[in-house]
Amino acid sequence: MKKILITGGAGFIGSHVVRLFVSKYSDYQIFNLDALTYAGNLENLKDVQDAENYHFLKADITDDQQIDQLFVKHQFDAVIHLAAESHVDRSISDPLSFVKTNIIGTVNLLQAAKKHWGKDVEGKRFYHVSTDEVYGSLGEEGFFVETTSYDPKSPYSASKAASDHLVRAYANTYDLPVVLSNCSNNYGPNQFPEKLIPLCINNIKNEKPLPIYGEGLNIRDWLYVEDHARAIDLVFHKGKLSQTYNIGGHNEWTNIDLVKVLCDVVDKQLGRATGTAQKLITFVKDRAGHDMRYAIDASKIQNELGFKPSLQFEQGIEKTVKWYLENQDWLDNITSGNYQHYYDAQYKSR
Ligand code: NAD
Ligand code: DAU
Repeated sequence: MKKILITGGAGFIGSHVVRLFVSKYSDYQIFNLDALTYAGNLENLKDVQDAENYHFLKADITDDQQIDQLFVKHQFDAVIHLAAESHVDRSISDPLSFVKTNIIGTVNLLQAAKKHWGKDVEGKRFYHVSTDEVYGSLGEEGFFVETTSYDPKSPYSASKAASDHLVRAYANTYDLPVVLSNCSNNYGPNQFPEKLIPLCINNIKNEKPLPIYGEGLNIRDWLYVEDHARAIDLVFHKGKLSQTYNIGGHNEWTNIDLVKVLCDVVDKQLGRATGTAQKLITFVKDRAGHDMRYAIDASKIQNELGFKPSLQFEQGIEKTVKWYLENQDWLDNITSGNYQHYYDAQYKSR
């Protein structure tokens, strides 16, 4: 019976990974460790919370003693590390939280794994989940490959880059069995509605402006979140130690084109006339240091582990919009309190 620690399991991607592992691997005990920050929400896991192989641990990865004690108590065999401060805009206004959680928090987990696994690393694995943003920003041509030099440009991506380096340093220096992946933008159910796609769906529904930074020409490569969870399952079980796998959707969109598609899908699902939502598009002041283009070359994970996205973007977006429109309670519970303060501060000055 393997004991797997998944950090950040109450967040967007983490909740999909926890659900997949709890339902697919009844012979694993899954421990979801999460501090339940503004981005963590146990409602995301309502459907698996009573499963016999699921356990929730409320803990903060920046607290080294708490992490150490949990390793003593539960004797984890493996770690899948997703807990992070993940929103670029928040990293611009509050970089220190990103340094604490993404860098110090990651080192605390590495230290605990190193101490408790010692030399007996047979069957052990520390999987660090990271982002394509560590590679910086692309021009019109080219793709990020696993050997692309790191060139992070925001406090968020710099903190994730530092955590990636530390994970590799622990492998090199202490022979910790690690594996990493760097993924492009995810979309789908349960994403915190500060991020572009759920923010726009919610605003269209409520007939509020859709804030597009700059001219909306920045490009992102979008992957459906359940496909990312499947890729994480593959890398965790079949990825080679000390290797990095890039994960992407081969699905590049400028922000403005993406938002226009979203507008039309939401109009259709709400029974409104086509074009209604597009009138809400509002160009606002650009994000400071806004990366122009991300695009992943995912041939390594495809060739070595057989991973391919399962959904066409059109299907993924239809599914995503349907989920948010059918889960208004989930949105309402979040879009009060902290969210509203953040939203007002973020968009008032623009
Ligand atoms: P998220 O912000 O939705 O969730 C983060 C989770 O981590 C939350 O549940 C939060 O409560 C928890 N957390 C934050 N600080 C913590 C702390 N100090 N201790 C314990 N738990 C803490 O993030 P996400 O979008 O699901 O991203 C998950 C991971 O995947 C991150 O490491 C992120 O860098 C990476 N990633 C995200 C994307 C994306 O498009 N969202 C793409 C590539 C990689
Ligand atoms: O590339 C992977 C990354 O994708 C992850 O590492 C991050 O955790 C995740 O948040 C995401 O980062 P982005 O900054 O790309 O995501 P976001 O949804 O914040 O923004 C997507 C694009 O839309 C980006 O170019 C900024 C733009 N944008 C965003 C918001 C919130 C707007 O134009 N208006 C907005 O209001």
